[in-house]
Amino acid sequence: MKVLSSEKMAGIRKAFHRAGYTRTGILERLRARDFPSLRSSDIPILLHRTASGDALDTLIRLFLVEAPCDTDAVSEAASLPVLDWVEAGLVTVDGDRLRPAVKILPYGDSIYAFDLTGAYGREGSADFVMGIGASTITLANLTIRRPSRLTLDLGTGCGFQALCAAQHSEKIVATDINARAIAYARFNAALNGVGAVEFRQGDLFEPVSGLAFDLIVSNPPFVISPETLFTYCDGGMEGDALCRRLVREAPSFLAEGGFCQILCNWAEYDARDWREGLKNWVEGSGCDAWVMRSQSRDIVSYASTWIRQKSPDPQGIPNDRFEQWMRYYDHLGISSVGSGIITLRRRTDGHSWYRADDAPEKMLGPCGDDILRGFALRDVLESASDADLLETRLVLSPDARLERICTPSEGGWRDTSLSLSLACGLPYTGSIDPVMANFLVACNGTRRLRQVLQDSVPGMDPPSDAVIEAFMNIVRSLMEREFLLPAAGGECRS
Ligand SMILES: C[S@@+](CC[C@H](N)C(=O)[O-])C[C@H]1O[C@@H](n2cnc3c(N)ncnc32)[C@H](O)[C@@H]1O
Repeated sequence: MKVLSSEKMAGIRKAFHRAGYTRTGILERLRARDFPSLRSSDIPILLHRTASGDALDTLIRLFLVEAPCDTDAVSEAASLPVLDWVEAGLVTVDGDRLRPAVKILPYGDSIYAFDLTGAYGREGSADFVMGIGASTITLANLTIRRPSRLTLDLGTGCGFQALCAAQHSEKIVATDINARAIAYARFNAALNGVGAVEFRQGDLFEPVSGLAFDLIVSNPPFVISPETLFTYCDGGMEGDALCRRLVREAPSFLAEGGFCQILCNWAEYDARDWREGLKNWVEGSGCDAWVMRSQSRDIVSYASTWIRQKSPDPQGIPNDRFEQWMRYYDHLGISSVGSGIITLRRRTDGHSWYRADDAPEKMLGPCGDDILRGFALRDVLESASDADLLETRLVLSPDARLERICTPSEGGWRDTSLSLSLACGLPYTGSIDPVMANFLVACNGTRRLRQVLQDSVPGMDPPSDAVIEAFMNIVRSLMEREFLLPAAGGECRS
C-alpha cells in the first residue's frame, strides 16, 4: 500500500462516499442481511446483483466480491486518474481490466482496506492482514470510550481499533509486529483523513517502552494451538502464554486510573476453577480486574472451529492435523478453552479487587459505558458493608424488563416462571421469584433499602440476620449486574 498526497487520498475516500459504498448501501444492493463471506456465498449471485455497471456495483465487484472489472468502469467510479488507484496499491492492471489488490469494507463513516479473502492460506500468506472480524467488532463494542489523552492499540492489524479510538483520544499509538499490518493501518488512517495516530512496528510492548496510556486495547493473536501459520491469530507461545504475558505486562504501561482491555483465550483445566487460574494473571498487578467470560468450549469443538477457519478450503478437517491439536492439549492438560475480555484499571491507592463471571449471552451494541459503570458499582460494593447498603437508596434500572411465562390453570393464568433482563448495554438475564420482583419495583429511590425490604417482603418486620445476609447477597449481585443502581444514576437508555 502506498499513501498518496492528502488530496489524492481524499479523492479516493470521496469516490467511495459518492458511490454510496456504505454498509446499508451495499446490503441493499446485494439484497443481503450481512456482508457475504466469499468462501460460502455464491459468487454468480453477487455478480448478477451488481450487473448495472454503476459506480456502486463496480466498487462492490472489485473490493467486496474480489472480481476484476473493466478499466473504463473503474475510471468512471473513481472519477480520478485510475493510475492513482494503481499507484496506491488498490488495483493492478490486467490487460483492459483491473484486478483488486485489496479488500475494502465500510464500517460506520470509515472505510478499511485489508488483505483479499482470496489471498488467505496461499503460499506466503503468513503475514495475512485480517479485516473486520467478529473479534474486531466485539472489542470495539466493549471499549470504554471516555476521553483519553494517549491510547495504545496493540496488534493494530488494519488499524480498525486505532481509528475508532481517534474519536475520543488526543493521540493514539498503533503497534504491530507485522510490517504489512502497519502499512495497511497507516494507509487506512490516511484514507479516512485521521492524523492522530502514530505507527510503530515491534513485538508486544517493546515499541512503547516508557509510555503511560489512559487506554490500552488489544485484540491479540489469541488462538491456543500447536500451529504458527498466521501472525494474526497464532501467537507462537505455548498454550495461553501470549495473552497471559500481555495481561501481566500491561499494568506498567497504564497511567493512574487508566484502563486496559484485552480480548483473550485461556486454557481451562478440569481440576481448577477457571476464575482461580485467571486470578493468578492479575494478582499483585496494582489493578482492579474484571474478567468477562463469553464462552467456554471443549477442545474438540474449539479445535475443529479454528482448523476450519484457518483453512483456505474449510470443507473437511484433515485427520492428522486434528490429532496433532488433540495431542497438544493433552500434553498441556487443557480440557477446555475460555474466551472473553479482561479489563484492568490501574490504581495505586491500596486494595484492588478481582471479578470474574460469565458475560451476558450477547451484547447489544456498544457497551463501554456499561463496563465503566460496572467498575463504579463494584467500587461501591467493595467499600460498603451490608449495614451501609441498607441505609442507601437504590433505584431499579429503567432498562430492566420482567417477562412472565404463564400456563393455564383452573383459576386462570398461573405464573410458572419470571425472568429478569436488561434491555440494553450488558443484557444480563436470570430467573427471579415474585417476592424479589416486587421488591425490585419498589426500589424507586425514595426510601432506604432497609425500609423497602420491610415494606415489600412479607414477614420481614424485623428480618433476622440470616435473612438479611441472604437478601444482601442477592442485592449485591443485582447491583453488580446493573439492575439496581444508586438513586442518582438511573436514567433510561433503551
Ligand atoms: C487478531 S489480529 C487483530 C487486528 C485488529 N486489531 C482487530 O481488532 O481486528 C492480531 C494482530 O496482532 C498482531 N500481532 C501478532 N503477534 C504480535 C506481537 N507479538 N506483537 C504485536 N503484534 C502482534 C498481528 O499481526 C495482528 O495484526
